[in-house]
Amino acid sequence: MTANPAKPLSGEVYYPSPDVIEQARVKDWEALAAFANQDLEGFWAREAEELEWFQKWEKVLDDSNKPFYKWFVGGKVNIAHNCIDRHLKTYRKNKLALIWESEDGKEHRTFSYFALNREVSRMANIIKAMGIQKGDRVTIYMGRVPEIVFAMLACAKIGAIHSVVFGGFSVDALQGRIEDSQSKLVITMDGSYQNGKVVELKRTVDEALKRCPSVENVLVIKRVGHEVPMEAGRDHWYHDLLALPIASGKCPTEVMDAEDPLFILYTSGSTGKPKAILHTHGGYMVGTYTTLKYVFDIKDEDRWWCTADPGWITGHSYLVYGPLLNGATSFMYEGGPTYPYPDRWWQCIERYGITIFYTAPTAIRGLMRFGEAWPAKHDLSSLRLLGSVGEPINPEAWRWFYRVIGKERCPIMDTWWQTETGMFMITPMPVVPLKPGSGTRPFFGQRAEILDEHGNPVKDGEEGYLVLLRPWPSMMRTIYNDPDRYLQQYWSKYPGKYLTGDSARRDEDGYFWIIGRTDDVIKVSGHRLGTAEIESALVSHPAVAEAASIGLPHEIKGQGIHAFVLLRAGYQPSPELGEQLRQHVASHLGPIARPEEIHFMDKLPKTRSGKIMRRVLRARALGLPEGDVSTLEE
Ligand code: PRX
Repeated sequence: MTANPAKPLSGEVYYPSPDVIEQARVKDWEALAAFANQDLEGFWAREAEELEWFQKWEKVLDDSNKPFYKWFVGGKVNIAHNCIDRHLKTYRKNKLALIWESEDGKEHRTFSYFALNREVSRMANIIKAMGIQKGDRVTIYMGRVPEIVFAMLACAKIGAIHSVVFGGFSVDALQGRIEDSQSKLVITMDGSYQNGKVVELKRTVDEALKRCPSVENVLVIKRVGHEVPMEAGRDHWYHDLLALPIASGKCPTEVMDAEDPLFILYTSGSTGKPKAILHTHGGYMVGTYTTLKYVFDIKDEDRWWCTADPGWITGHSYLVYGPLLNGATSFMYEGGPTYPYPDRWWQCIERYGITIFYTAPTAIRGLMRFGEAWPAKHDLSSLRLLGSVGEPINPEAWRWFYRVIGKERCPIMDTWWQTETGMFMITPMPVVPLKPGSGTRPFFGQRAEILDEHGNPVKDGEEGYLVLLRPWPSMMRTIYNDPDRYLQQYWSKYPGKYLTGDSARRDEDGYFWIIGRTDDVIKVSGHRLGTAEIESALVSHPAVAEAASIGLPHEIKGQGIHAFVLLRAGYQPSPELGEQLRQHVASHLGPIARPEEIHFMDKLPKTRSGKIMRRVLRARALGLPEGDVSTLEE
């Protein structure tokens, strides 16, 4: 798309202003897209060359064993080297890498690239002293404090594989993920702050570890000062170890193969337990570096704020790795948007002079509710670009964000991507004309299609399954320890094409519009939850014989969880029991998984083979036609 296409685009369109075009790194989107389309490997090689390699790759893309693609084959690299070490040789040594503010706004911490290197090296030395080696898994279960960034980078630096578990998850979710990854070490905190309350992270770890024999050590960072039990020999206070000589500020960066694992991140899939998505040092590095550079046009003088938690892929790619790879200054805020007042975020934008602000539709909808007076109290004129991710943004929220926060000056980058893709896949760029609610077009080198059930492309305007046609460097390599599931889940419905799990349509201008998930994934406030996880939490309650869960539209959260349960003999439906079950799910999985409502049922709609038909439950709840019910049991 050029900034001002010859033929006007259909629908509601926002063209970039001359100012935006003037500032943009990529002015001719069309030309770069054409180059990448024609020479995919050439495009990515050129990007990779902007980073430092211990040894250059022999082959950019190895597709001899599809869909187990390999990138930068033979290359030796370490993402941590490119996030930190590389910058120390330049003026960036003294540049701020990270600015942090506490939830109550009373504490501020800043780290230059030089200081970041010291902190990461100290943590790396400590975990090495605990016996962690290249290839070992380390579970990180923390709040939003600088130490979570140090922990992730420390693992990368020594070649350990991190597995970050969102600090809002609870014991079952944590335990399952530690067990599956066979982590030897857990890095956690005594507790974290959330809306003025303390989340007891260490106690949850203790509970989870009762069933996780692989864990040898627990490293505990003091944040809230709560008394927590420390098991002798297993649990160690980080500040105690920092005082020892082993915690030196110098630590060599491990030489990794481009295809060596960097991290696993669990995400909910259609059925069964969460999947461990595996990303690697080389390709993931090049993908996140390039996309952030082009899409958010990140420059040295910017102050970037991605509001995501490091516990999700957005936090991995665009709070931790992408910004550091670009040598950017990032801001990280410990708390949520509305505590203690709904102008907390606007205050931070003003206080730190944020220039690029990347957040989620659910947060925008939540903040809209408080009205325009809150943002109006603050000077937001430092902003030049905005971003959205996690779920489709409804046009009303888009317009509000554009007008009230961006003052009609700042283009909104609505980036569509997934844990599996590692980087933006369908996304605008500053010079691309925008349509509220559309992620516009595939990123350089990518092609997307919308298919019907039989694999035929649908007509423009029609809904179908969104697939991606070409490999990209930061694509997931496999599901950790489960390559068959990787094949089956992503590559079997349409052989040779990557199945995203989303439904979408494309309009006559070639713009993509994401509609939602086609599988049993529920997006609650942009967070991905599996029906299977919610249902197994429910049936672990003595009153519940069977359970089904679905997502229904919710004004703020996008989707809310509705659970349908069949009680065991001897239990009667009651509002109290409903409340108990909601609480039960929240305490097992985490508050984000708390169902909006529990519906007591006499029976659940099932296929003759006994599979619960969630589609039918959803249709009934929304008063829509039930569709094809020929497989419904009598
Ligand atoms: O359904 C799409 C939705 O989020 C899913 C991926 O979730 P997750 O792996 O948790 O990653 C979220 C952050 C990248 C997608 O399959 N999604 C993500 N971004 C958008 C979106 N839906 C519409 N528009 C987006 N910008």
